[in-house]
Amino acid sequence: MTNRVDGPRLVTGAARYSGDHSVEGLVHGYLVLSTIANGTVRTMSADAALAAPGVLAIFTPFNPLRYAGPWAQGPGYYLYGPNRFPLQPGDREVRHHGQVIGLVIADTFEQARDAAALVEAAYDARRPNTSFADGIPDAVVPPPLTGPPVVDVLVPGFGSIDDALAASAVTVRASYSQRPEHHNPMEPHTAIAVWDDGRLTVYSGAQGPLLHAQEIAVAMEVEAAAVRVVSTHVGGAFGGKASTWPPAVLAAAAARQVRRPVKLALTREQLYSVTGHRPAVVQEVALGAARDGKLRAIKHDCVSTRSNVSSLYNGVSGYSLGVYCTPNVHAGTKVVTLDIPPATIMRAPGEEAGSFGLECAMDELAHELGLDPIALRLANDADRHLTGGLPYSSKHLAECLQVGAARFDWSRRKAEPRSVVAGEWLIGYGMAVGVYGANRYEMSMRVAFRRDGTVHVGAATADLGTGMRTVLSIVTAASLGVPLSRVVSWLGDTALSPDPMSIGAMAGAVGSAGSSSVAPAIRAAAEAATKALILRAIQDTRSPFHGLAPEDVRYRDGVLSANGQSVEFGRLLTLMDVDGVTATGTSAPDATPEHTMSSFAAHFCEVRVNRFTGETRVARMTSVVDAGTILNPATARSQIIGGVVWGLGQALLEGAEVEPATGRIANANFADYLIPTNADIPGIDVYFLNYPDTIFNPVGSRGLGEIGTVGSAAAVANAVFNATGIRVRDLPISPEKLL
Ligand code: MOS
Repeated sequence: MTNRVDGPRLVTGAARYSGDHSVEGLVHGYLVLSTIANGTVRTMSADAALAAPGVLAIFTPFNPLRYAGPWAQGPGYYLYGPNRFPLQPGDREVRHHGQVIGLVIADTFEQARDAAALVEAAYDARRPNTSFADGIPDAVVPPPLTGPPVVDVLVPGFGSIDDALAASAVTVRASYSQRPEHHNPMEPHTAIAVWDDGRLTVYSGAQGPLLHAQEIAVAMEVEAAAVRVVSTHVGGAFGGKASTWPPAVLAAAAARQVRRPVKLALTREQLYSVTGHRPAVVQEVALGAARDGKLRAIKHDCVSTRSNVSSLYNGVSGYSLGVYCTPNVHAGTKVVTLDIPPATIMRAPGEEAGSFGLECAMDELAHELGLDPIALRLANDADRHLTGGLPYSSKHLAECLQVGAARFDWSRRKAEPRSVVAGEWLIGYGMAVGVYGANRYEMSMRVAFRRDGTVHVGAATADLGTGMRTVLSIVTAASLGVPLSRVVSWLGDTALSPDPMSIGAMAGAVGSAGSSSVAPAIRAAAEAATKALILRAIQDTRSPFHGLAPEDVRYRDGVLSANGQSVEFGRLLTLMDVDGVTATGTSAPDATPEHTMSSFAAHFCEVRVNRFTGETRVARMTSVVDAGTILNPATARSQIIGGVVWGLGQALLEGAEVEPATGRIANANFADYLIPTNADIPGIDVYFLNYPDTIFNPVGSRGLGEIGTVGSAAAVANAVFNATGIRVRDLPISPEKLL
C-alpha cells in the first residue's frame, strides 16, 4: 500500500493546475454568453466595452476569431465534444442558453470581466425547444455511437420481446428517470495559450493531452507537433476534460491574434453551459421471470436528451446486455434533440443510469417473487455476454455478493419494507451489482536509467486525479526491482510522448483504461531498457562488462553482474560517462479477443430516512470489487470510494433544473446544484477480491475508476424502498418524494 507520490504536492498547494502557471506578458479573457436559447444574434455593441480600461480586443460573431471549424460531426476524436465552436465568421446562430457569443481580452481578469458586462447583444429570438418531457412522444432512434441503438436477442418462436415477457410467469415493469447531471471539476476549464514562433504551448487540464493537442492543432490549422499541451495536474475530470472545449481553442486563437499569451478561465456558472453534461434519461425496464427467479426476458428501453450542438446521448439500455443470463433481451435507445448545452461523457456513461434502471427493477422483481435480492442475482449470474456470446475472462461476481453480504451483515435485513424503526428514523438495507467493461488501449511508455541512480518513467497521458502517477512509479519500481524512492515519474505533458501518433496514448485517461494500459507498457519498456543497458555495458570500453556476450550479463534489482563482478546501474553509467539509457515499450490489447472482459462490483447500503422530514442519510456502505490484480490498494480504494460517492450524489442530490421557457440552467452554481459533501458520506467499506486477469493484460489488472459508480445509486434507492416502502423511480430521491 503506497500513498500518492504526489500527495505532499497536492496538499501543500505546490501542485500547479492550469490556471496556476505564470507566463510573462499574460493577458486575460472573459466570455460573454447568450441569454437566449434559440435565435440569431442581430447586433452586438462592443463600443462601451472597448473603451473600458485595459481592454485589448473583443471578439464576437461580427469580429470573429480566425480558426478552423465548425468541426466534423460524429464519430472520431470529437465524439465526446461539441460539434461546433463559437466566434467564427458569420456564425450568429444561438442554439442554447449560455452559448459563447463574445470574448473580451484585457490586461487583467477584472478588467475583462467588467468590460464583458458592458457588451450588449440584440437577438432575433425563436421559441426554444427545451422540454424533454414534451419531446418524448416524438423521440427517434439516433445514429449509432459506440454500439447499435437497438438490439434484440430472442429464442426462436418469439416475434418480439413482448411475446417473451407475455410468456413469463412473473413480470415487473417500471419507468426510471434522472435529470441532466453536470461535471463540477475542482478547476473549471482553464487554458493559458502561449505562441512562440509558430509553436503553441497550452496549459490546459486534459485527460488525454495528446488528443487535446491534436484537436487544438486542427482548430489552429497547424501541425500537431507544433502544439504542446501541459496538463501536469488536471484539476478534476472523469469525462469532463476528455474532449476539447471552447476555452483552450478560444485562448489559442485569441493569443495568436492579440500577439500576447492569453488565459481564459470559466466561472463555475459558465462551466454548466460551455462544457458538456450527462444527458437526462428516462428508461423503462420490464423483466420476465419464472417463479424460481430465473430470468426469461429483459426489455430495456431508454430515451435520452441530445443537444443540437453535440452528438452524444446517454444510451443506457445496452447495459442490460452484459449483466444477467436470460434467453431473451431487448435494448432500445431513442433521443429527443433539444436546444440545450452540449453533452459529454461522465463517469461510467450509460452504465450508471443503465444499472440504476436494471438493478432497481431486479429489486422490484425480488420483492414480487418474495426472494432475497442476492439470491435473485446469484440465480441469474451470467458466464458470458448476451451478444457475441464470449465467455468472461475472469468473473467473480458471485463471490463479491457472498463476501459483501458477510461483511455488511446482510442477514440482519428485514424483507418487509418499513419494518425497522429507530426513533424518527426508518432503517433499510439495499443492494445492487455493477458491471463495467474492461478497456485498454495501445500505449507506449518510456523508461530511462539515469546516472544519478534514479529511473525516469513517463508518458503523455494524464493523471486525472486517480493516482495514476503513483501506479506508474509502483509498476516501474517492481518491473526493475528498484526502490520506489528512486523512481521519478512524469505525466501530463505531450513533450513526454515517445510516440505522438499512438491512438491509444491519445485517448489518455478515459474508460477506466489508464492503469491497465500503462502498466503492461511499463513492463515492456523496463525490459527494453534493461536490454539496452546491457548492450551499452558490453560495448563501452569503460565498462567492466566490455566485450562480454549479452547473455553473460545479468540484471537484477538495479545491479548488473557477470564473472563475479556486480555494478549498480548508476555507478555503471558514471563509469561510462553516460547520462542515461532510455528505451520505449509498447503494449496493446488483443485485436480479436476471445473473451468478454469486465470489472464487477456488489454494493450494499444502509439508509436512514427521517419519518418527519423525508431526509435520507446513507448510514454505511460496503462495496466488494472484482477488478483483477490491485496495483495499489490505497489509490484503488480511493477510486471505489469516489465512484460510490458519485452514485450517492446521483441517487440523492444531483440534477440540473432547466427552465423550459428560456433553456437557462437555474441551479448552475454550488449553492443550488447539490453534490455530496463530507457530511453526506458515511464510512465506505471497500474490499477487493484481487484475482489476476491475465487474459486481459499481462499484469492482471482491470479498470476500477468507474465500476464504483455502477450500481451504487440503485443500492441506495433499493435501501430507501426497504426503509420506507416507497419506490422513488425519479432521481434524485429528494425529501419531498418520501413524504
Ligand atoms: Mo471517463 S467518462 O471515460 O472519464
